[in-house]
Amino acid sequence: MPVGVGSVREARTVPFHQSLPRLLRDPLGAIEEMGRESDGEITRVNLGVLRPYLVTRPEHVQHILRDNAANYRREGLMWKPLSRLVGEPSGADPAWPLKRRIFQTLLTGKNIETYTDEMAATIAANVDDLGRRYGAGAPVDCSDELTRIVYRAILRIFIGDRLSLADADRLGEAITIATTSSFRSRMLLPFVPHAVPLPGDHAFHQAVQKVDDIIFPIIEEARRQGVGEREGGGHDIVSLLLRARDDEGGKLDDQGVRDGVVSLFVAGTETTVTALSWLWVVLDAHPDVMGRLRDEIEDVVGTAQPTRAHLPRLRYTKMVLQELLRIYSVGWIIPRIVDRDDVIDGVRMHRGATVAVSPYLTHRVPDVWPDPQAFDPERFAPGRSRHRFAYLAFGAGPHQCVGSVFFTVEAQLIVASMIGRLRPVLHGPAGVRPQAGLTLKPREPIAISLDPVNAK
Ligand code: HEM
Repeated sequence: MPVGVGSVREARTVPFHQSLPRLLRDPLGAIEEMGRESDGEITRVNLGVLRPYLVTRPEHVQHILRDNAANYRREGLMWKPLSRLVGEPSGADPAWPLKRRIFQTLLTGKNIETYTDEMAATIAANVDDLGRRYGAGAPVDCSDELTRIVYRAILRIFIGDRLSLADADRLGEAITIATTSSFRSRMLLPFVPHAVPLPGDHAFHQAVQKVDDIIFPIIEEARRQGVGEREGGGHDIVSLLLRARDDEGGKLDDQGVRDGVVSLFVAGTETTVTALSWLWVVLDAHPDVMGRLRDEIEDVVGTAQPTRAHLPRLRYTKMVLQELLRIYSVGWIIPRIVDRDDVIDGVRMHRGATVAVSPYLTHRVPDVWPDPQAFDPERFAPGRSRHRFAYLAFGAGPHQCVGSVFFTVEAQLIVASMIGRLRPVLHGPAGVRPQAGLTLKPREPIAISLDPVNAK
């Protein structure tokens, strides 16, 4: 039945006694099971205080994220834990259009082109450094080391010379702690009041304090230099946010600039590090894909430093990254709040309710993605088509990810450097399961070893 037409019914509901125990035991497993049981129908999950709608089919997602996006606001309880770290969710933040415009300026394809080669050189140097610091066969913690590489790659581009390398590392650590600690349980159990302490709360607050201690002085220093009061003064994110004016000439206060800077770092680093950690798990399970990837990288780049000119020819690398984000949809959930009563496919959507669009589930709808559990980069070969809202790795509609092109460029450069210059092999654990939090992280830390490129 087309969206919004026909007789109206209430959504099928998963009762409280079935939903909560399953969600507490294994949140992602429970959501996966509920997605399968719903068979594409919009389903309501009764968690007592919160009764979110679970949405999986691309045509329903299209209605929520694009066609009637104004009625599905990007705010609500599920965003609450994040707000202490990055500020109000974009749907509830009047300054968001201004911040989004600034992010887009920094991350347009044309702008990215101007700094790709500099980023490539930083990445290659840091991959070489990684190879030097760890001997052949020694386990390398993916999350720690990829965080270092990603922060160094984006540092000068995002923040110029306003942040030292040491502070960038401290910022990376603090953001990782903040987005793990109690954040995961608070996001999955958003109805637990903040007055009720949860394990990890203290670590979360300390980490956020550390982020503030690093970012606010940078803003103060930039203001002292007069940035924001006159034209000029750098293309880093702090300068851009300080100079930004909305249509009425309004500008951001220090808190607004701080929230913008931290949003960009959180959105642009955790996601990339997590995605690239999964890569080695996938390549370990699919030696054929690893073989093709290595052949392409050897053929296009070899052991040289990758550059912007190589990127268009790293086609298979890009397909592998796209399929990686289908299976391991790092942004696994996209929550919204229903503004006014609505009807989707005959199902009543009640005002005030939470809607959980889940890329993780949409990427597993079998009639859209045949054999959905199989890892097959060929799904993204040129000429293959599907419903526009079947692939949601970067969301869709007015809040669609502003960093998708940047991610692809950065990830192609990191993968080409790591595979071209070293022999990364999964050290363990094989077949690790994902765990749902802010991003879809591996349940246990992933380690790889890095042999020299001439080792077999
Ligand atoms: C693996 C990489 C990434 C994934 C999977 C990812 C995923 C997503 C998703 C699903 C959304 C939509 C959220 C929603 O609609 O509620 C989003 C939004 C966003 N992403 Fe990304 N992202 C990635 C990388 C990046 C990078 C590298 C940056 C910046 C450099 C970035 C910046 C943002 C920002 C600022 C938003 C908020 C947009 C808004 O609310 O208007 N992301 N991302």
